[in-house]
Amino acid sequence: MNFKKLLLMTTITTAALTSCGDGAEKKSEESTNEKVTKVAWGEADGKPVDLYTLTNANGVQIKISTYGGVVTSWVTPDKAGNKSNVVLGFDSLSGYLAKPPYFGAIIGRYGNRIGKGTFKIDTTTYQLATNNGENHLHGGNKGYDKVVWDAKAADSTASLTLTYLSKDGEEGYPGNLNITVVYTLTDDNELLIDYTAETDKATVVNLTNHSYFNLTGDVNNTILDHQLQINADKYTPVDAGLIPTGELKDVKGTPFDFLQPHKIGERIAAVDGGYDHNFVLTRKGSDLELVATLSDSVSGRKLEVFTTEPGLQFYSGNFLDGTIKTSDGKSINLRTGLCLETQHFPDSPNQPTFPSTLLKPGEKYHTVTKYKISVN
Ligand code: BGC
Repeated sequence: MNFKKLLLMTTITTAALTSCGDGAEKKSEESTNEKVTKVAWGEADGKPVDLYTLTNANGVQIKISTYGGVVTSWVTPDKAGNKSNVVLGFDSLSGYLAKPPYFGAIIGRYGNRIGKGTFKIDTTTYQLATNNGENHLHGGNKGYDKVVWDAKAADSTASLTLTYLSKDGEEGYPGNLNITVVYTLTDDNELLIDYTAETDKATVVNLTNHSYFNLTGDVNNTILDHQLQINADKYTPVDAGLIPTGELKDVKGTPFDFLQPHKIGERIAAVDGGYDHNFVLTRKGSDLELVATLSDSVSGRKLEVFTTEPGLQFYSGNFLDGTIKTSDGKSINLRTGLCLETQHFPDSPNQPTFPSTLLKPGEKYHTVTKYKISVN
């Protein structure tokens, strides 16, 4: 796959219009190419929002909203061939405007927490919005999950390019940051997410996607019986505010040892509050590598996570409490979805020993993550 080539693809949009009873022509589903369609999905921030559907050769479908760049659904077959949605999401924009905890969204400018919302670049100290107690979480009060992205479908592939200009000073961050996120659904049932960004002032960047997976395809089931394997022999322990202490701790002999597959429910009671930790990935190089595998024996579905990133936040849906309902009225209860967020480590701007998240003018931020779903 040539990622650069994907970015350069232009879009030919052929809009299909349908007639309304009153004679006025109303926009309904539009076909941008045979693998991508879009519908108008409402309005946010005074801007129109669209919902795109990517379809691959196997009839697998992924829907993406221009609001937050949210993956709203991923409909894929189980071992019996029955298709269902394996990510938490809603059928309408109103579900997202009610601010669910980052369901399916693009997260930025900085994924996860920055201690006390402050950091220093050279001699300048920056103060970000503090939206999680005294800390900064997932880009602040209005992160990239709550903005409307510009979108362009590719001319012939099941691919969508989203762009957003995050202005200098937004949520306290320095520099105008031009961001491009390309989502591509392949015929191997992979969702490729390619993130690039450039700045005009030194800043910090850590982009990720916050999809909650439930491989059973039914939110009535928890994820506690899912088996998880993570290529990480260390993790970053956190303080009470979930800020890393700076230590890289051995997973050996702890409930964080997922080097071999374990059921998520097996040792979760021994982890205060449940899993919400950054795993230090054991990587061979800087290429896209398989770093984690999640599987559900009932549906037979398997999710593999590949990334170029050094870290993976495994979040076991600890703050889901049933107050949010799916579009068909089911309660989204504790641990009915889990996130595998590929990223740099939390609070890196304040942790000199962690891989750097600094981006300077003239440099290009570029990371790639791939989620692949298959059936056993
Ligand atoms: C964080 C959690 C946070 C959640 C919000 C995760 O990425 O690690 O601490 O509560 O996002 O949904």
